[in-house]
Amino acid sequence: MLRVDPLLARYIDTRVDRSRALDIAAGTCHASVYLAQQGFQVTALDCSAAGLALGRRLAKREGVAIQLCELDLDNAVLPKGLWAVICCFRYLNRRLFVQMAKVLAPGGILIFKTFNVHHLVKAPSFSPEYVLQPGELASAFLMLDTIELADGDDPQENISWIVARRPH
Ligand SMILES: C[S@@+](CC[C@H](N)C(=O)[O-])C[C@H]1O[C@@H](n2cnc3c(N)ncnc32)[C@H](O)[C@@H]1O
Repeated sequence: MLRVDPLLARYIDTRVDRSRALDIAAGTCHASVYLAQQGFQVTALDCSAAGLALGRRLAKREGVAIQLCELDLDNAVLPKGLWAVICCFRYLNRRLFVQMAKVLAPGGILIFKTFNVHHLVKAPSFSPEYVLQPGELASAFLMLDTIELADGDDPQENISWIVARRPH
């Protein structure tokens, strides 16, 4: 059974070109496999060979092909490709914000969702470096057209997300 964030199911619909999709910090590649099932050519990026190996097995089990790319996102640049979809779940690396917007195809969709500062109440040992501040997503992706935004205004919500489209 795939564990897929509801945002993917909600926004990957017939309005999105079935071309190339990039899953950033893909982990065990559940989102990648889901996107491949929806008809995308998917590249999954992660620094963990073990995670990607599980992703390979998952893709095989589900009968789809995905491209796996092991790289350290602290040092690498995102592969250029004019991606129709870029997704990133539960991973925060601020140096990638501008790159994400730049490598998105015109009309392409970014789906980004990760922990925000309210998470520290629930999980005090979580590193403050890896949580979003209120309002941070909106200001980071000003060059995109926001479709849906939850940006840390609600103290009960420990996750922030943005769904945004690159203008044509
Ligand atoms: C919490 S997991 C999220 C995985 C997946 N996106 C999901 O939601 O299931 C965070 C992922 O970020 C990856 N990661 C952490 N630091 C990284 C780095 N510097 N470069 C690439 N991947 C990294 C980890 O290997 C891990 O798979």
